[in-house]
Amino acid sequence: MAEMRDTHDRRIDYLRLSITDRCNLRCRYCMPEEGVAPKPHTNIMSYEEILAFSQLAARSGISRIRLTGGEPLVRRGVVDLVSQLYALDGLEEVSITTNGLLLDKYAGPLFEAGLRRVNISIDTLDPKIYKELTRRGELEQALEGMRAALEVGMEPVKINAVALKGVNDDMEPFAQLTMDYPVHVRFIEYMPAFYEKNKDDFVSGEELEARIMALGSKSGAESPGGAGPARYFKIPGAKGTLGLIGSSKGHFCDSCNRLRLTADGKLRTCLFSDHEIDVLPALRRGDPGDLLKLIERALEEKPKDRFAKREGKVNRKMSQIGG
Ligand code: GTP
Ligand code: 5AD
Ligand code: SF4
Repeated sequence: MAEMRDTHDRRIDYLRLSITDRCNLRCRYCMPEEGVAPKPHTNIMSYEEILAFSQLAARSGISRIRLTGGEPLVRRGVVDLVSQLYALDGLEEVSITTNGLLLDKYAGPLFEAGLRRVNISIDTLDPKIYKELTRRGELEQALEGMRAALEVGMEPVKINAVALKGVNDDMEPFAQLTMDYPVHVRFIEYMPAFYEKNKDDFVSGEELEARIMALGSKSGAESPGGAGPARYFKIPGAKGTLGLIGSSKGHFCDSCNRLRLTADGKLRTCLFSDHEIDVLPALRRGDPGDLLKLIERALEEKPKDRFAKREGKVNRKMSQIGG
């Protein structure tokens, strides 16, 4: 099996693949009310192009792909895409990060297509606050999605909750969720770089950890598996775990294992860097030699950590990167 290493000797085996910049929600920390003007269809990679890139990446050393968005389940044909990705040579695992609203419908077909790992963004368990935060979502629908994923046998099922003042200050309901269901709730340090307006809502990773411990958690729970930056804790007797994804300190950068590909075919070397390598023209020319060179360039240019190589403000919204 081929292996890719970047210039900082990190093994790169994980690709976050955004398949659409569209979303059926408008979360306040992610998108303005009117949405973000979607990229024209002609600039968005077709499934054939996504598969061609993924095959090359898998032969070069990518063993896991996570589908992201926007909201990946709003793109038609996503179930077939998952089956086709599983058929690729060298690719071991496909996972998805979704807001869960369409999971009730898709959990079964996705499972049949081979998908086992799903991360669902649910920032609060209060239906009123959920509606305000997402500007249009029904909490119950997302919870139905979570239950559907558990029922069909997805494992692990992780819940992402971006920590925001006034939204999830009370973590007790999430703690209870881990008592009732085998889910892994991760509180995510809010990244204001992507949405300057709400800087005041930031809650630090240290504070989040103190709050998780105050819920009676024991530190150092075993990871439910995955390729990401989360650390996990467990309340004695719970079916699931509580976790934390901090990013402001950059602790995670030393073991960063990932590349990102946006829906319009730009390789991004770091969540916090605007540096992009456009692979769409080479993909459309059907030129594997050129594509390989572009992937090699991404490995050479991947910054050491989130503080390196920042080129001014981040120019894309999170919905155009996929987290
Ligand atoms: P698994 O561990 O495989 O489940 O994946 P994950 O936790 O990386 O995936 P998910 O899509 O659920 O992302 C959760 C959060 O982690 C999102 O808010 C991401 O923005 C954040 N995240 C993902 N990649 C990075 C990264 O490279 N650096 C930092 N600091 N945060 C990241
Ligand atoms: N800061 C932290 N996490 C964010 N996400 C979206 N925007 C932000 C932000 N500004 C999260 C979503 C989703 C994941 C892919 O990224 O809630 O769980
Ligand atoms: Fe959609 Fe996710 Fe952004 Fe919310 S955070 S608007 S669910 S892309």
